[in-house]
Amino acid sequence: MCGIIGYIGNKNCVPLLIEGLKRLEYRGYDSAGIGVIKDGQSIIVKNKGKVSELQAKVEQLDLEANIGLGHTRWATHGIPNEINAHPHQNSDGTIFLIHNGIIENYKPLKKILSQEGYKFSSETDTEVIAHLIDSFLKKGFDFFKATRLALLEIEGTYGLAVLYTREPDKIIVARKGSPIILGIGNNENFVASDVSAVLAHTKNVIYLEDGEIALLKKDDYLVRTITDDEVIKEVQEISMTLDEIDKGGYPHFMLKEIMEQPESLRNSIRGRLLLEEGTAKLGGLDNIIDDLLDVDRFIITACGTSWHAGLVAEYMFEQFIRIPTEVEYASEFRYRNPVINKRDAVFFISQSGETADTLAALRETKLRGGIAIGICNVVGSSIARESDSGVYIHAGPEIGVASTKAFTSQLIVLALITLLIARRKNLSLENGREIAKAISRIPDQVAEILKLNDKIEEIAEKFKDAKNFLYLGRGYNFPVALEGALKLKEISYIHAEGYPAAEMKHGPIALIDENMPVVFIAPKDATYDKIISNIQEVKARGGRIIAIASEGDEEIKDLVEYVIYIPHTIAMLKPILTVIPLQLLAYHIAVKKGLNVDQPRNLAKSVTVE
Ligand code: G6P
Repeated sequence: MCGIIGYIGNKNCVPLLIEGLKRLEYRGYDSAGIGVIKDGQSIIVKNKGKVSELQAKVEQLDLEANIGLGHTRWATHGIPNEINAHPHQNSDGTIFLIHNGIIENYKPLKKILSQEGYKFSSETDTEVIAHLIDSFLKKGFDFFKATRLALLEIEGTYGLAVLYTREPDKIIVARKGSPIILGIGNNENFVASDVSAVLAHTKNVIYLEDGEIALLKKDDYLVRTITDDEVIKEVQEISMTLDEIDKGGYPHFMLKEIMEQPESLRNSIRGRLLLEEGTAKLGGLDNIIDDLLDVDRFIITACGTSWHAGLVAEYMFEQFIRIPTEVEYASEFRYRNPVINKRDAVFFISQSGETADTLAALRETKLRGGIAIGICNVVGSSIARESDSGVYIHAGPEIGVASTKAFTSQLIVLALITLLIARRKNLSLENGREIAKAISRIPDQVAEILKLNDKIEEIAEKFKDAKNFLYLGRGYNFPVALEGALKLKEISYIHAEGYPAAEMKHGPIALIDENMPVVFIAPKDATYDKIISNIQEVKARGGRIIAIASEGDEEIKDLVEYVIYIPHTIAMLKPILTVIPLQLLAYHIAVKKGLNVDQPRNLAKSVTVE
């Protein structure tokens, strides 16, 4: 969602803020702004659109300052325009702040403040915070206390950084529900919503927890709870390098992330596979593994692509562990008064580890006594920290908004979890070894599929002008149909639907004509014959068919217009292979349409609002 960066030190903060914002742009990008204190005055520069446009505007001003804040906005309250962009300030411009999250009680607060004479200039929920802090300053409290007291009045979520021109040696930072970190440097300190924004300057960070407020000076910091208790924080060293978050020579992060899947998958597996014993080793589950063998039910909650990974896991868990498994959108789960008890294990799958609905579902689960297991990519993220136990997928930073390598890493980690639990229950050594071996071969098999990039680009050229797409799969590959369709609509804005192939007859078949491309995910497996019948049905109605099939399948060639072959593997791992051509197809179609694949319109990488 919104991105936050702040600096206090001896350097000119303006280029640092712009650079930080560029690193954060992927989170949300409908407008951006910076605010600095110079000679005791606040100077705010804001812009609708991209950070590069803000940069051009800032450069004309020849601005220099040693303390400042920057923000990229992803609109929640009020349209994306310059006025609604952050920073927001109080009436005399002495206070300004940037905010990520939603102030739920902003309307009643706005009413009270308006009655007290405060004038509002934006439509945002954020602006109330500036006036509210102002009202406490006017009561005689210092900056830190005024901010703390203001935050006590606020309901909702925030990652927040505030400056005050009369105390220009401090940044106040607070967190409730939206991630925020302090970057600790040498005679300079940073605040950011994401470590990637500060990594070029420091690897030492402090993660603020919900309910904490920090006072940051250039050579010192202090953290307290919002209710004014002392908190001792640990400075943590980040192992991620800047190289890891660069494009690495590719035109887009998305292509880089698709292409690095052999490596990201290797990283996900590294040190976790025991080929001889036919099982897996996952330290993050050690504390609950015995409980997991004996639960009544698995529940998996997630959003977006991570939810699709959950759907694949449902097939894995039920086939091999034989424990009933339910998969639910986190947003639905949290609001429907779910039945959860101590003998339920609930998995929270989230690349970012910050998705608001998934995090809320986790907290609800913990409240009700279920076992909470996080499957996250971002180390130290909220879901990772708040889960009872969990497994990092180690896919490395994923910057492209459309998730690719995180999805395949989620799947391979879910396969490792399946193997570990199934072997502790009743999976034989022989079957365990077969699965372990198949997992170990996946990275090389993905590399083989990636060699088909040129061919897939040619197919994309043929279909780039289609208005609709249908993706069909069965069993393990039904969630892949959903994911293929999601990838296409996210970045190419072509309407696409994923369906279980057999369900086609109950509706989508009515859409099929010579203009409708249909992507069949049809590897050789238990449902192969059935899916061939579905292909015949589409062919009979003139539909244009692209098939993802197992290598050596000559039969399918005569039935379809294009076929993309994938290597053989066991059914549970096929989604990791079948999804790769679909990622590339979506990518090339979007590029050929001239669209911004890394930052598709209206989407955000990390959805930290409900
Ligand atoms: C957003 C992203 C998706 C992602 C989803 C869930 O919608 O654009 O790519 O799948 O959030 O995110 P999470 O970080 O929880 O996996």
